[in-house]
Amino acid sequence: MTDLDSIRATLLAEAAAADSLDTIEAVRVKALGKQSGIAALMKTLGGMAPDERQRQAPLIQGLRTEVSDAIAARKVALEAAALDARLAAERVDMTLPVGTGAQGSIHPVSQVMDELAEIFADLGFAVATGPEIETDWHNFTALNIPESHPARAMHDTFYLREGQNAKQAGTADERETRTLLRTHTSPVQIRTMLSSSPPIRIIAPGRTYRSDSDATHTPMFHQVEGLVIDRGIHMGHLKWTLETFVRAYFERDDIVLRLRPSYFPFTEPSAEVDVGYTLDKGRRTIGGATPDGWMEILGSGMVHPKVIAACGLDPAEWQGFAFGCGIDRLAMLKYGMDDLRAFFDGDLRWLRHYGFAALDVPTLSGGVGA
Ligand code: DAH
Repeated sequence: MTDLDSIRATLLAEAAAADSLDTIEAVRVKALGKQSGIAALMKTLGGMAPDERQRQAPLIQGLRTEVSDAIAARKVALEAAALDARLAAERVDMTLPVGTGAQGSIHPVSQVMDELAEIFADLGFAVATGPEIETDWHNFTALNIPESHPARAMHDTFYLREGQNAKQAGTADERETRTLLRTHTSPVQIRTMLSSSPPIRIIAPGRTYRSDSDATHTPMFHQVEGLVIDRGIHMGHLKWTLETFVRAYFERDDIVLRLRPSYFPFTEPSAEVDVGYTLDKGRRTIGGATPDGWMEILGSGMVHPKVIAACGLDPAEWQGFAFGCGIDRLAMLKYGMDDLRAFFDGDLRWLRHYGFAALDVPTLSGGVGA
């Protein structure tokens, strides 16, 4: 009996003292393995008289079970502790700012889109979106660009199925529902007027596509559309909104805009908008109260009554203005890049140079381009 008691005391103490999964495994092998004291005790059962064996067997087996349970319990506790330690070591606090080793940067196009959203949110505009795969009707017809319109030829459209750009392909209905990659963000005007009721104030930034490629044109590029529909809207509202936007975007109050009469099928009257720049040692800088020259930055106008009617609104009651602007060009003018193609090369050196820190969220109070 004293033998059993001392074996029990030693083994339970060893199990309790084990402080790692390796040590508890060593204790298990030593306590319960073939060479162990308990195994030796089990062997003695064979040489005992039957009544002696009947007394001793449950005691030895009880000891074996007790030690085995103690070791298993210790192992479970050690495993839980190891998991806790690992979870603590690998813990990531998602609410902390990105550390100094942060990789990656915000692309200038995304940065400018954020800046636009911030500037126009302050003027009460929401951000609207539409699909990049559009129907012919949304991209052209509803915008007062019927099939025979020369403006169609000016948009080098990617149709989704070969031969679909042929005028005579299919019936008139089929041609209106054929799909294409939107050539401008203007179809978002249509979708917004169809899905919500006036008053409407939205901007719609996004990707656009035309089959065109050189230093200033890429087959995919970005535009932002603006649309306001309400009662009694006139060109004065358009001009004030554009001036306020351009001054906030370039962060200068002394910016002069020039509205030149122009033509777009979906606006009447239409105006192209130039921004004044000043020359300093041959370098153009946007702004200056007395400009040295003008740069075109966007197209705009009063929404054509036919477009308003195509969206189920009464043009006698509702008027509005719209504008469309190339985002890539806006980024180039503000941040000084000169080759549009670099925007889409994915060159890390370019992105590190022109990109923005992930947490550098533009705010009007902090300066939208900070
Ligand atoms: N959609 C035109 C383009 O891609 C730009 C444009 C001009 C949009 C005038 C407008 C607008 O909303 O009023 O060239």
